[in-house]
Amino acid sequence: MTAKEILKYLQAGERTALIKRADEVRKEHCGNKVILRGLIEFSNYCARNCLYCGLRRDNGSLRRYRMKPSEIIKASYGACEEGMKTLVLQSGDDFYYGVDDIRGIIKDIKKRFPDTAITLSVGERPDDEYKAFFNCGADRYLLRHETMNERLYKKLHPGQSLKERIRILEFLRKTGYQVGAGCVVGLPGQAIEDLRGDILFLQDFQPDMIGIGPFIPQSNTPLAESSIASVDFALKVIALARVVTKNSHMPATTALATLDEGCGHILGLNAGCNVIMVNFTPSKLKKDYAIYDNKVSVSLKRAEAAVLKSGREVTFERGDSLKR
Ligand code: 5AD
Repeated sequence: MTAKEILKYLQAGERTALIKRADEVRKEHCGNKVILRGLIEFSNYCARNCLYCGLRRDNGSLRRYRMKPSEIIKASYGACEEGMKTLVLQSGDDFYYGVDDIRGIIKDIKKRFPDTAITLSVGERPDDEYKAFFNCGADRYLLRHETMNERLYKKLHPGQSLKERIRILEFLRKTGYQVGAGCVVGLPGQAIEDLRGDILFLQDFQPDMIGIGPFIPQSNTPLAESSIASVDFALKVIALARVVTKNSHMPATTALATLDEGCGHILGLNAGCNVIMVNFTPSKLKKDYAIYDNKVSVSLKRAEAAVLKSGREVTFERGDSLKR
């Protein structure tokens, strides 16, 4: 799509045709099955101070937790035993875990469940660590680009830069990972033109996976008083991402499900998404992974119900990249 076309869709009040088109593209390039992935949020410590995120360093009201490697492994086994063929291991940017800790976790899971894909989502780390994780069996890496507006990026992520973020995404790809990018829709200060930039980036980079969700304020952040993003607008951005990337794996995000508890997943699945992330974080810790307010915890049951309701079928396949 041209920049002009993208902007036209973003500005239009009408979105039915776009969503229908995204649904058709999804069907043609990804099929009808919805892939489930098991998510384990193993630490909510974070060295960054992103203005919109509840895990930010300066949030003193958050009860912090770190799972021990043995606990992470145990939770991973649990998810595998429930049928998950992808484990997403996610945390804040927490350098408490050294290369050897993370390598040990990956190796253990791979030994016990060799067919399981491991996706890391642990933020910005040194290049040699990304290589080390890959070399001992990590398959995929999620690192949202967050926003393609360089100035907004800088403002929302003190001490970080968009250029570095994109460099890392390119490095991860070069290293051999299946790579996930994506953005937040409706960030305070984000213009429609900025989202056009996000879509153009996704079109150009063609990530193997894309996570897009609406902004939801978190009460203990500087953006607590900002307004919630609109689900409909987020769906438009998701649909555009589907149309321009065709076969990227794209979850109906938990943020969508949080804003619309009954229908969020289904709306996402109807607008181009083909993945749902199921939460396997130990239940006593879940509520402390407070990226934004009222974040729902997606159970296997709930994910399956959403898929069924949308008239699609769940698959327990690995769901590797369709771009290779
Ligand atoms: N609203 C919506 N998404 C958020 N994220 C962080 N804070 C928020 C928020 N307040 C997203 C970021 C991050 C992902 C794990 O969660 O895009 O990459």
